[in-house]
Parts: sequence; structure tokens; C-alpha cells
Amino acid sequence: MSKKSRRKDTVITHAAMKPWDNQGIPNPPVYYASTVLFPTVEEFQTRDRTPFQGVQYGRSGTPTQFALEETVTALYEGSHKTVTFPSGIGAIAAATITFLQHGDHVLFSDSVYGPTRKRVGKNLLERAGVEITYYDPLIGGDIADLIQPNTKMIYMESPGSHTFEVQDVPAITAVARDRGILTVIDNTWSSAYFCNPFALGVDIVLEAGTKYLCGHSDAMLGTVTVSTEEQFQALKGMQNTLGSRSGPDEAFLALRGIRTLSVRMERHQINALKVAEWLDARPEVERVLYPALPSDPGHELWKRDHTGACGLFGVMLDKKFSKPAMCAMVDGLDLFGIGASWGGFESLAIPIAPAGSRTATPWPHENQMVRLHIGLEDPDDLIEDLEDGFGRLNAA
Ligand SMILES: Cc1ncc(COP(=O)(O)O)c(C=O)c1O
Repeated sequence: MSKKSRRKDTVITHAAMKPWDNQGIPNPPVYYASTVLFPTVEEFQTRDRTPFQGVQYGRSGTPTQFALEETVTALYEGSHKTVTFPSGIGAIAAATITFLQHGDHVLFSDSVYGPTRKRVGKNLLERAGVEITYYDPLIGGDIADLIQPNTKMIYMESPGSHTFEVQDVPAITAVARDRGILTVIDNTWSSAYFCNPFALGVDIVLEAGTKYLCGHSDAMLGTVTVSTEEQFQALKGMQNTLGSRSGPDEAFLALRGIRTLSVRMERHQINALKVAEWLDARPEVERVLYPALPSDPGHELWKRDHTGACGLFGVMLDKKFSKPAMCAMVDGLDLFGIGASWGGFESLAIPIAPAGSRTATPWPHENQMVRLHIGLEDPDDLIEDLEDGFGRLNAA
């Protein structure tokens, strides 16, 4: 692609394509490497040792990872560089531990993905002597009241992947910026396609690339995109210390997945909206938690900061339904698989219980909840499947 600035769909299809470096092949191939050879001792000894530039040693990455990283960076206008990790949680661990140390304080949204709290928060950061305060995801600019002299980072996830609360990200980043506090966001729900948090003032944006970037339920990957060279050097240094770079096969799969990101995201949105609207009108449903619905409390913020909505939302059943009734409904679904993760081509359904993982702001609802990922099937078939499910729910 020429240097001319192109629109997002064009960037998605052309970024990091270097066919004339790769025998005319459009997508960069999978380079496996540990060793990188030099023709002479002289060239080995005088090689470019600029940290993390070019192909130096397999642990730092090969042209396959670099092509993916270049592509993700290009998707986030205003960003500097991207580093890829073997999973989303690997990206979260690295993006936090790189910039926090013993004695620091970090603010985490109460709505973060469960393992962000349990694995990264508790097992990694607290063990390293970092103090964590969880904040109400709806806090907005009042987050200023929670800042301490040693607060070094605010970590957001918006919407949260269980409760779908939308945060006022610009209000939070304005508070952070005034005080020199780093902001990080998990942007997996919108992915680079539907939201650019850099335009909202965020410093570091991460994604579980396992979801929409890969998009086919067959690869694990995490991305961390930063806004300065200093952040890049620090993050890349930590990645090298942990020996935690993405594998070349996964990088290739993610890059291949990204080439169709625009059409998949648009279709997830169309299908999810149709199913969500249908569910919203059902008497068995108390609430559909999907910011794209005008009735959702986060709708206005979502409309302001995101250009679309992905296929993931929550369904809160009427209080009268028991857990066994909800299980009968979900167990019998034909087209929805029961399993963790989301962002792939296929539909999924799992029970969720957000109350157990809140500490700052209680989740007051006792209703049974199901989280649906709406895939690329015909939405009318999905609706028929769910309608049969309501039959089982009512009969249980
Ligand atoms: C919002 C969110 N962030 C991060 C992750 C972690 O990604 P991974 O499963 O690739 O480690 C997940 C996984 O479900 C997620 O839902």
C-alpha cells in the first residue's frame, strides 16, 4: 500500500502486504525462526543492534509477527506500534506489569473480564506489591476522587464482557491525562473496527485477538498497541524478558482473519441486532444487555464513541425462571454451542453470574442470565432455535 492515507476497509485488506518481498504472495507467509544467520563473522559482529528492530533472533519475532503488528497498528489511527502476545490474557498481563511496580496503585474497572481480576490482578499485580482499587464502571469523571498520589494507571474495559456497561472513556482519560496517569483499555468487544480508543484519549489499547481479529475460533492471540516509542521499548523489553511472543502460525491466522474483519463485524452486528430486538420483545426476558439497543442505559455513550456493535450481549431472564429452567433452555439449543470465548464465526451461549465478581459496585440482579455470541448463521434460524429454547424454559 502506498503511503497515502486510506480508509479503514482498505487498510484492513492491504496493510503489511509485501508481495515483492515474498515471491509475489499477498499475505506474508509463516516464518519459523530461532536462529538468524549472517554470512560472515564481520557482519555478525557489526550487525544492527538497535533494540527490537528488524529480524534479530526468533524470540523478538519474525516477519510474520511484524506484518500482523504493522496491520493492527494501521487499524488504530493515531497509534505508534503494536506488540503481539500468545493470548489475550498474556497481553493484559504484559500491558500492566510493564508499567506498574511495587508500591504503585492502579484503578481497575469493576466490570473487567474475570481472569483480568483473578489472574492478572490477584496472582500477578498484587503479588508484585501493586495496590488495586476497583471502580464503578459508570463513574466517569468522578474517578478523580479515587486517585491517590501513587496511582500510575487506570485500566478500563468498555463495554464489560459480562455486564455490558459502557464507560465514559473521554471523561476518564481527561482526568488521567491531567495527572500524568497512564490509561489502558481492553477493546476486545468493539475491536479496532468499531472503536478507536486512541481518539478518546487512551494511551494503550489491547485486544484479545483470539476473538474478532482471528475470528474463526481456532487461534489464541493478544495485541497491545501503544502510543509512544518509549512505551513500545518498555513493552517489547518485558515481552523479551518473559519470552512471550505470539507464535508465527497464530500471527498468520490472525492476519488472515483481519482481512475479513470488516465484513464479519458488519454481519455480526446485523445478526445480533435482529436477535437482540426479538429477545427484547419476549415476555420471558427482563432485559437485553446490548448497548446498540436504544433502551440500553449505555446507548448514548456507545453511539458517541463506537461506530458499531459486535455480536456479544447478555440476556437477563425474568426473575421467575430458575437455574434448572435456564439450563434446560440452553442445553437444548441446536445452533448455539456451549463454551467460553466469542468472536468466532459461530453462535455461542453460556450462563453468566456477574454478582460473584463485583467488589466496588454490587450487581443487584438475581435473575438467571445467559450471554449470547451471535455468529454468522442466518439470524432467523437462530431466532427459531431460541424460540424452541423458550418452550423448554417455560415447560421446566
Ligand atoms: C474481554 C476479554 N478480554 C480478554 C480475554 C482474554 O483473552 P484470551 O482468552 O485470548 O486469553 C477475554 C477472553 O474471553 C475477554 O473476553
